[in-house]
Amino acid sequence: MTTKTTCSDFVQFFRSWVSDPMRVAAIAPSGERLARLMTQEIEPVGGPVLELGPGTGVFTRALLARGIAESDLTLIEFGEEFAVQLRGRFPEARVVRMDAAELGEYGLFAEAPFGAVVSGLPLLSMPPEKVAAIVGGAFATLRPDGAFYQFTYGPRCPVPRSILNRLGLKATRIGGTVRNIPPAGVYRISRGKPLEVSVDGSDFRSAKEDAAIAAYAGEADARRPEAGA
Ligand SMILES: C[S@@+](CC[C@H](N)C(=O)[O-])C[C@H]1O[C@@H](n2cnc3c(N)ncnc32)[C@H](O)[C@@H]1O
Repeated sequence: MTTKTTCSDFVQFFRSWVSDPMRVAAIAPSGERLARLMTQEIEPVGGPVLELGPGTGVFTRALLARGIAESDLTLIEFGEEFAVQLRGRFPEARVVRMDAAELGEYGLFAEAPFGAVVSGLPLLSMPPEKVAAIVGGAFATLRPDGAFYQFTYGPRCPVPRSILNRLGLKATRIGGTVRNIPPAGVYRISRGKPLEVSVDGSDFRSAKEDAAIAAYAGEADARRPEAGA
């Protein structure tokens, strides 16, 4: 499989941005240099990988180039146009069309803890409670030593410090590139302290992650019209 982004990918990406600029939040897919930075620490021995907001699959291809088996990939994409394309391109991967903010709900992926999360989500254009739900939900699916990789076009980690502290996480900048439109930095977010896990060890979610998800769910309920009735 080619690792190159095709001309039609640029066209599709640009069209998606025109139709939903807040969701897509970039006019072009990420470049190969950024894709390498995002996946540089991920090894096949680390376990299955969860990708959030893969778009046309630039980071997905970089993961495959690092030797991750396609069947070890779960791709969460909200855009229908991208989800359809991803299913055609990566038939052995699990492609789920859903809002990444719902990751922590229903224990959807609790049975298969991931070794790493690679996120292309536009966190800077999301409200803080949604960012908390995404990051908390992602860590609920991650092994204790698993890491969450996120890029940003901004000067600092796009997960606010208050959310990191609330979830017991730390962020470290692991690289950046100007060979991207626009230039981008990459962060590794990992657990700062040992987890409080359930007695049988099957639940990889910390008490802080549970609390953050519950807070988000409560706020979401309050926003629903029927909740106030
Ligand atoms: C900035 S683009 C990045 C695409 C690709 N990772 C790349 O780097 O070229 C953001 C992607 O996240 C997806 N997305 C945005 N909000 C989402 C959400 N709440 N849940 C899942 N996917 C989402 C968009 O549809 C889009 O594919």
